[in-house]
Amino acid sequence: MHLESVTLKNFRNYQDKTVLFKDGLNIIVGQNASGKTNLLESVYVAGIGRSPRTNKYKDMIRWGSEYAYIKVTIKKNKSTHTIEYSIDRQDKKRIAIDGIPLVKLSEILGMLNIVFFSPDEMKLVKESPVERRRFMDISLSQQNKNYFNALSKYNAIVAQRNKLLKEEHNPDKIKEMLYGWDSQLASYGATIILKRYEFIEKIKVFARNTHSEISNNSENLQLEYECEIPQGEISSIKEEFLKKLNENFEKDLSLQYTSFGCHRDDISIKINGVDARKFASQGQQRTVALSLKLAEISFFESETGEKPVLLLDDVLSELDASRREKLLKLSAGLQTLITCTEFEENLNHNLIKIPQ
Ligand SMILES: Nc1ncnc2c1ncn2[C@@H]1O[C@H](COP(=O)(O)OP(=O)(O)O)[C@@H](O)[C@H]1O
Ligand SMILES: [Mg+2]
Repeated sequence: MHLESVTLKNFRNYQDKTVLFKDGLNIIVGQNASGKTNLLESVYVAGIGRSPRTNKYKDMIRWGSEYAYIKVTIKKNKSTHTIEYSIDRQDKKRIAIDGIPLVKLSEILGMLNIVFFSPDEMKLVKESPVERRRFMDISLSQQNKNYFNALSKYNAIVAQRNKLLKEEHNPDKIKEMLYGWDSQLASYGATIILKRYEFIEKIKVFARNTHSEISNNSENLQLEYECEIPQGEISSIKEEFLKKLNENFEKDLSLQYTSFGCHRDDISIKINGVDARKFASQGQQRTVALSLKLAEISFFESETGEKPVLLLDDVLSELDASRREKLLKLSAGLQTLITCTEFEENLNHNLIKIPQ
């Protein structure tokens, strides 16, 4: 999978611009606020269907314009494809693949696999569990439509459930409504949990090796999916899920939200047996974040047989020389888009100057 070009019309600070990319390393150089992150954002949106920076599509429309347009050309299995997005001020988006409008957003997933790494991802270790769940969800959704669908439905039911718990005050009525919903919730939840267990099982090996290498074999990184329901067959996960929902009924009534479920899970991260979420130094946090991202790349390759496109936003300046070298070495086999304000390394690359 390989990105050939991006055309932007009224997207962020771009009025009308086409950028061509080469395979391998593409270095996007420009001063602060020149639009480097905006360019990566457009590629991310094209692949993942949402922005890493905002939940509102309309934020990406150039100020004073009515709509924004992104067109990405990709090469996959020797054939060329286009992905087009139009976004309007009502926050509506229209997406087309090869000129054919999409019916469901999930159809976009897998067209262009992205691994994104920015200074914000460096916070993956110490931030709230939300960020670590997002990491799993975005990775898994890109290569598994079932996962994405289960997650969308799951989130919708949790929202519906929470609304009911908040607004309805008759416990019998609530119980009656939850009877049907909870079985579905447990079913989607079981799909999510099973996949997350598998995901962490796979990436933990890659991540441990990278982390060990970067730390000169002095640190042992251990990842575990943190979930109240143990790993098992999908049917037993579902059964256990439903049991826990029932056990938590009184609690949910008094809290007025859904207190149990995979929307509260986390990834446990330990370095030499110590919880890194609490105790990791800044250097260790960066190494873990880097190891997780590189593991994500290996995961994509092993699952889909295709290499994702790597987007590195301002991360080189955040890493020391040895981590930087490691990252560049590992990204050498991928199409990589790197932004930076200046680039001194003597590498074979395609230089994209912003503004051109
Ligand atoms: N919707 C928008 N319309 C026009 N300009 C925007 C919009 N959103 C952000 N910008 C501008 O984009 C610039 C930031 O671009 P960015 O890609 O973050 O810069 P950098 O090159 O530092 O990564 C800022 O000048 C900001 O004002
Ligand atoms: Mg930037």
